[in-house]
Amino acid sequence: MKIVITYGTYDLLHQGHINLLRRAKALGDYLIVGVTSDSFDRERGKLNVRNNVLERVESVKATGLADRIVIEEYVGQKIDDIQKYEADIFAIGSDWEGKFDYLKEYCKVVYLPRTEGISSTLLRDSTQQIVRLGMVGTGRITHRFINEASNVSGLKITSCYNPNEAEAGAFALRHGLNPFSGKLDYFLADVDAVYVASPHTSHFDYVRQCLKSGRHVLCEIPFVLDGREARELYELAAAYGVVLLEASKTAFCPAWTHLLTLVKSGVIGKVVDVKSSLSKLLPETDRREFDPMQAGGSVTELAPLCLMSIIKLLGTDYSEVSFYSKMDKGVDIFTKANIIYENATASMTLGLGVKTEGNLVVSGTRGYVLVPSPWWLTNYFEVCYEDQNQNKKYFYTFQGDGLRYEIREFLSMIFNDRPSSFLLRAKESVAIADIIGKYRRGYQTKILK
Ligand code: CTP
Repeated sequence: MKIVITYGTYDLLHQGHINLLRRAKALGDYLIVGVTSDSFDRERGKLNVRNNVLERVESVKATGLADRIVIEEYVGQKIDDIQKYEADIFAIGSDWEGKFDYLKEYCKVVYLPRTEGISSTLLRDSTQQIVRLGMVGTGRITHRFINEASNVSGLKITSCYNPNEAEAGAFALRHGLNPFSGKLDYFLADVDAVYVASPHTSHFDYVRQCLKSGRHVLCEIPFVLDGREARELYELAAAYGVVLLEASKTAFCPAWTHLLTLVKSGVIGKVVDVKSSLSKLLPETDRREFDPMQAGGSVTELAPLCLMSIIKLLGTDYSEVSFYSKMDKGVDIFTKANIIYENATASMTLGLGVKTEGNLVVSGTRGYVLVPSPWWLTNYFEVCYEDQNQNKKYFYTFQGDGLRYEIREFLSMIFNDRPSSFLLRAKESVAIADIIGKYRRGYQTKILK
């Protein structure tokens, strides 16, 4: 029996795919089709795939041409599969001519004629809805946001808002946008969705106004500075039928989501402790980060990502939280928080004026996961066991500044009418704001000398 194997994403299955599968099948007696997993596609930069892996597998199955379907999850899997299934022929479309010659060591490689004039990319482009997005705030991160957004389809950044007219004008000129200041209504009339990246203390008011005018909102971290405010905003979003997402960028990155899946599936047993650390030593103390009037300090600046990691791993039902801070001129330049659950403990260590190592360690009853600094830009982690021979390292590409993943999730929620993201649920986002709010109210806080 001659076994043929082929691979693809098979998004929005089209005639080109069917022709290719038919030609591949005709090469032998048994056809194995590898369909890429969602995380593998994301990881290799294919951010705009519309159908999820289950839908794509179903549509390949429906062609009746595949005798077996496998999921392609990692670089190098083709070699493993060819050997495992004893494939005689690797077949792929001619757009890949030459790219898979390295497989000739394992089986015959055949490049099949590609069907002209059709592709998933063309189909996606021709049916793509476009969300017009405006940005509130024109600070450092918004330049990066514009850059990152160019990797995600379905989005057009049209406008920016800054109460300072000159700053709005300069930013708009640089990026080819419509500038707005003064009344927010005019700006809102120009957009379908808003990215809020204004000073921390203004998030709540801006987000509320945007939601009330029926605009979807992606809000930078810290989302808001209190749990009650967060709850109110999510309720508003639900009432107005729009998407509200906290831009906790790490939560949407491929390596982090895979880490979470592995831990939740029990690779280190039951999680008993999480240690999450983040520091950013800033030499100039005249910055916003050190200004108590602008909600500066380690907790407001750095806690959202560490709290996200703890809450995603251990949940929102903690029983105690306490804080230890070192203060300088009214802001915490260092804070350690202990968050205690019924079955587990967690701690975060944050520093604007104290350097911490920036690792994430998740300890379980069978092993631990180490994500070395900077864990929040996860591109590598290791799962470690008592028997070090069992340790496994995971590598990923963290593309660009990483904002593209949160933008993609935000758009996917809008396009699919999905009010909640399992990558960061409203409840989890509220719990993060709630802990920040507790700290700001001085709850269970000891000041170090
Ligand atoms: N294919 C083909 N003819 C087309 C499109 C795809 O023969 N017009 C083949 C590819 O060469 C590959 C398989 O179908 O062997 C799966 O390709 P995939 O990347 O899923 O399809 P594309 O339409 O090329 O997707 P995209 O536009 O996202 O790259």
